[in-house]
Amino acid sequence: MHSFAIADLAIATAYATLGKAEPLEAAVHVARGYQRVKALDEDELASLFGLVLLRLCASVCVAARQQKQRPDDPYLSISQQPIRETLPRLAALDPSRVEAALRAVRAPTPEETLSARRRVIGPNLSVAYRAPVKIVRGWMQYLYDGSGRRYLDAYNNVPHVGHSHPRVVRAGTDQMRLLNTNTRYLHDLLGQFGERLTATLPDPLRVCYFVNSGSEANELALRLARAHTGRRDVVVLDAAYHGNTSTLIDISPYKFNGPGGEGAAPWVHVLPLPDIYRGKYRRGDPRAGEKYAEFARQVRNPAAFIAESAPSVGGQIILPDRYLASVYAIVRAAGGVCIADEVQTAYGRMGTHFYAFEAQNVVPDIVVLGKPIGNGYPLGAVVTTREIAASFDNGMEFFSTFGGSTVSCAVGLAVLQVVQDERLQEHARQTGERLLERLRALQAVHPLMGDVRGSGLFLGVELVKDRSSLEPATEEAREIVNRLRDRAILLGTDGPFANVLKIRPPMPFSDDDGEHVASALDEVLAGL
Ligand SMILES: Cc1ncc(COP(=O)(O)O)c(C=O)c1O
Repeated sequence: MHSFAIADLAIATAYATLGKAEPLEAAVHVARGYQRVKALDEDELASLFGLVLLRLCASVCVAARQQKQRPDDPYLSISQQPIRETLPRLAALDPSRVEAALRAVRAPTPEETLSARRRVIGPNLSVAYRAPVKIVRGWMQYLYDGSGRRYLDAYNNVPHVGHSHPRVVRAGTDQMRLLNTNTRYLHDLLGQFGERLTATLPDPLRVCYFVNSGSEANELALRLARAHTGRRDVVVLDAAYHGNTSTLIDISPYKFNGPGGEGAAPWVHVLPLPDIYRGKYRRGDPRAGEKYAEFARQVRNPAAFIAESAPSVGGQIILPDRYLASVYAIVRAAGGVCIADEVQTAYGRMGTHFYAFEAQNVVPDIVVLGKPIGNGYPLGAVVTTREIAASFDNGMEFFSTFGGSTVSCAVGLAVLQVVQDERLQEHARQTGERLLERLRALQAVHPLMGDVRGSGLFLGVELVKDRSSLEPATEEAREIVNRLRDRAILLGTDGPFANVLKIRPPMPFSDDDGEHVASALDEVLAGL
């Protein structure tokens, strides 16, 4: 009999799925093994899954007929119970997910991808996790690898409204099909995006500039501050990171005090991180905020104070009450302007407020936005006052080729609209509150969990070997993150000792996802 060779693979694959916890993963393994020996073409891959289902259906029909004929032969029903369990699960899978997973068997393996990357990409780009993850598809708070395995993304804040959010994708692709030009031509989206964005900010933050990244935005913020004050010096928080340009490395202690760094330049003044868990003034001191702010008094003639309104790179720090108000007052009295780096904390992530600075009851002079505002499309923004914008307008044109482009404005508008329509800030507040409570319950059981802190979907778990010396449990943090990765949960670490587990997921992250993270963390900690 002559037939299609793919039928062989379909039959083998059909039986390999039976009784498996992840039947699609099993199917992908078999297909990948076959592909290594005999290349599969597009048509074969497109038909494989349907043929697998068909084979199982055929088996049920054939067995029914044979059992009628030979009711005493137990072999005839050997596959029937497993098929009864697995077939409905296979049939319920999202066909596009199946197709993506099967197509991926023709793609290079993660090992091949890694070696290609090592051949052509600069060596100091890092790869997360001991066993690198190769993601081929994203959907809201989930990521999928080539075998169809689903990972819970509890870490990435760039896909703020969710990976591949359809409204954002549509806004970007529709506009790209029509027109994508720069700000030297008139188009309505630029003004619309500016209006919508400034409407989320308090007075007098009314003037926008659009760029392509958080780094570009911080770089521009420094130029604005320097143009306005005629000064150069910058005041920063310890352990901060503000971006990858030369000037931003100079104002990022996380970099200039880290490996390969050259220490602080004379024009950079580093204030202690207002960390009430590990710093000089601790939780329980009602004036910790004011006391940390006092360090700013030592700085003469600053152009600017720049800080994340909730230091994320510093280890998911929630600033003590009145810290920013006090430090802003000191810096302004010394003639400097105050820049809020909201690259990680904007757009409702903190749950209680749309921007993290609002929780500190301050209004910055310049607000810097990045990561989430384009949901993965490269988009950064600087919003400032009319006075500062006027100082910057000194005759030199400001132009960014891609910044404020037609497509970026369309994407930016869509993201903002989704955040509001889907009430993501309130969702973050409620989900974060429940997860924080759950993590605090775990803290009572696991001594390694020294501190649990955060707001909304901006959470941190600081791991310590000893709750009195606070010796950082850096190795353990790395181990936990890797073991969670093996369980298909993606988290990261941060803080000066890399001992803070960072939970900062896409905003659609649900209560079930939170429970999944907490129970996995509980098990991993118990098994450590
Ligand atoms: C607080 C903060 N500011 C600025 C940046 C720089 O943004 P980008 O990488 O988009 O240039 C980052 C990036 O990690 C950041 O975390």
